[in-house]
Amino acid sequence: MSAPPDLPAVVARAHALSRQRGFVSSCRNETGRLLASLAASRTGTLAESGTGCGVGSAWLRSGMREGSKLVTVERDAGLVEAVREIFADDQSVTVLEADWTELAPYGPFSLLFLDVREAKRAGPDTVADLVEPGGFVVLDDFTPCATWPPMFQGRVDTMRQVWLTDPRFTTVEVMVAFDASVLIATRR
Ligand SMILES: C[S@@+](CC[C@H](N)C(=O)[O-])C[C@H]1O[C@@H](n2cnc3c(N)ncnc32)[C@H](O)[C@@H]1O
Repeated sequence: MSAPPDLPAVVARAHALSRQRGFVSSCRNETGRLLASLAASRTGTLAESGTGCGVGSAWLRSGMREGSKLVTVERDAGLVEAVREIFADDQSVTVLEADWTELAPYGPFSLLFLDVREAKRAGPDTVADLVEPGGFVVLDDFTPCATWPPMFQGRVDTMRQVWLTDPRFTTVEVMVAFDASVLIATRR
C-alpha cells in the first residue's frame, strides 16, 4: 500500500496518546487515510462514535474542509479529557462525554464513522436517520472476504450482510490493506 510516510501532526499527537495509554483499538493508518479523503468530500457536520484516543478524529479532522464540524463521542471520561487536550485550540472539533446514542441531536451528519461495536451491531435501523441523504456511514475492522454471503471465522457475517443489503443505503466493501476492509454505506 503506497502512502507518504509523514503523518498529519494532529494524527501523530493522537498516536502518541494511544502509545501512552497502551490503547490498541485505534484505527489503522490505511483506514485513517480513507477517512480523511471521505471527509474532504463533505460539508456540514461529521461525527464519530467511539473516540478512543482520537486517532480516527484526527484523520477526519486532517481531511475536513474549512467550515465543517466534527462531533466525536466517547463514554470513557479519561479518554475524553485527554482527547479534548489534543483539540483544545480547534473550534471545529467537539469531544462529547456520553453514550454514542446521544449523538442524535447534533445530526443529521454528512459522514458518520461508526466505531462502537454495539452501534455497528445496532445496524441501519438505528443509524439511518442520523445521516443526511448522500451522507456516508463508515464501518471499519472487517476481514476481506470474497464470498456471498460474507463469512468470518466460519460463520455468516450477518453484520456485514445487513449493511450490504439494506435498501436505505448503497454500500461497498473496500479493502484498505490485504487484511483489512471498510464498509462505506451511502444514504439514499
Ligand atoms: C474502537 S475504539 C475507537 C477508536 C477510534 N474511533 C479510532 O479510530 O481511533 C471504541 C471506543 O468506543 C468507546 N465506547 C464503547 N462503547 C461506547 C458507547 N456505548 N458509547 C460511547 N463510546 C463507547 C470505547 O471506550 C472505545 O474508546
